[in-house]
Amino acid sequence: MKSTPTQYGTVAVTIHWLSAICILAMLGSGFRAASMTDSAAKEAILMFHVPLGAVILLLTLLRLFWWWRVDQKPKPVSGDPAWQTFTAKAIHVLFYVVILGMAASGIGIVAASGAGSILFGGEAGPLPDFSEFLPRGPHGLGARLMLALFALHAGAALYHHFIKGDGLIGRMWFGSKNTGAGS
Ligand code: HEM
Ligand code: HEM
Repeated sequence: MKSTPTQYGTVAVTIHWLSAICILAMLGSGFRAASMTDSAAKEAILMFHVPLGAVILLLTLLRLFWWWRVDQKPKPVSGDPAWQTFTAKAIHVLFYVVILGMAASGIGIVAASGAGSILFGGEAGPLPDFSEFLPRGPHGLGARLMLALFALHAGAALYHHFIKGDGLIGRMWFGSKNTGAGS
């Protein structure tokens, strides 16, 4: 269940990959919804986007609680230059900040626009123009920041795994498949 100095534990690994899949689905559904002009089609996508956003918020709160109270992260990968260790850590922290910011601004958009009663209360549409509401700006900006973090983070993981050949992704997978990164 818990992590060791060289390997993330089952709970951390499960939350990591569930969150990653959900966030990719959120980026896809969010950009799709924003590009739509037909209110009914946009409604259908947002009826998926909004509840999944709540799931990500819960997963992230659980993850923060897990690191705060229960588990300790593995040691940083040994042999990396200090700037890489620092950048990796900064990206992890920024992920948490951006996820929480996306959840807050998303809830803000729905609350300010009153779209909740159309999406979940059976009220007739059309949906409001979300761009008129203040939290919509930060939500769009956060989405682009998330894409940038994702590219840097996944790129670094793939670089470690396949180019440096240190089996880093095994640290964030089930069982003890890790081949030495961080040991
Ligand atoms: C949006 C999607 C993703 C998010 C939000 C995310 C977030 C994080 C965070 C916050 C950590 C630090 C551990 C923690 O706090 O639980 C982490 C570690 C890690 N992630 Fe991701 N991740 C994502 C996608 C990916 C992908 C696609 C890969 C692989 C290509 C990946 C590979 C890893 C690895 C290998 C680690 C462990 C790094 C180490 O050994 O210190 N992640 N991720
Ligand atoms: C990690 C969490 C989330 C991610 C990654 C995400 C992603 C996105 C993206 C990529 C967009 C389109 C942005 C653009 O084109 O400028 C968007 C729009 C939107 N999101 Fe989210 N979102 C998240 C959470 C939420 C939550 C929790 C809610 C509601 C409670 C929400 C409600 C909305 C709404 C109403 C729009 C506007 C759609 C439109 O303008 O037509 N989002 N989201």
